[in-house]
Amino acid sequence: MGKQEKGLSRRQMLGMAIGLGGFALSGKTGSVFAQEANRLFTPPLTSGPFYPQIKPLDQDADLTVLAGKKGPAQGKVIHLTGRVLNLNGEPVSGAKVEIWQADANGRYSHDSDPNPGPRDPNFQGYSVQKTDAEGRYRFKTIKPGAYPGLIAGMRTPHIHFEVEGKVDRVITQVFFPDEPLNEQDSILQSIKGPRKEALIAKMMPPTKEMDFQGA
Ligand SMILES: [Fe+2]
Repeated sequence: MGKQEKGLSRRQMLGMAIGLGGFALSGKTGSVFAQEANRLFTPPLTSGPFYPQIKPLDQDADLTVLAGKKGPAQGKVIHLTGRVLNLNGEPVSGAKVEIWQADANGRYSHDSDPNPGPRDPNFQGYSVQKTDAEGRYRFKTIKPGAYPGLIAGMRTPHIHFEVEGKVDRVITQVFFPDEPLNEQDSILQSIKGPRKEALIAKMMPPTKEMDFQGA
């Protein structure tokens, strides 16, 4: 157990902290994300059929608690952090970062979702935030469940992203490391090599200020 992990409860250890090496958003030349280390372009991916029809009134960065509901969302709590950078590796402050995702049962809050599993009424499912001066964003959410894709095979757990700077935007999806279903996911597997790696979040040691309380 590392120094940073000392003093964490078992529940906290069940949570995950994941992050992306750095999304980069171009301010000048087309929509791109890039990885911080070498600024490889991170490819755009489909927004899918489940972008919220009606966004929740509660759009804050904690998706595990929905205003007006008594209980927290079901599932494994995660903290998702990352940065938005331009192609020079400089932080993009004030970028709009939207996320939407399935709940722990693999259900979206969307009328067109045909999956029969129960929908978690306490899960926010959507958030929009602005990056800080360092280009950072942070969300507290739950790990989404896998679900049967409408066209082909199972969709591995993923979180949808739309990032918008002053003149540019990109829509993509972020994936989890070491997921067996990653190998079968046709959308993830449509991207090859290092560009695919740029879409897969990295596990990070949790920090003391991260709260992993959940259902
Ligand atoms: Fe999806």
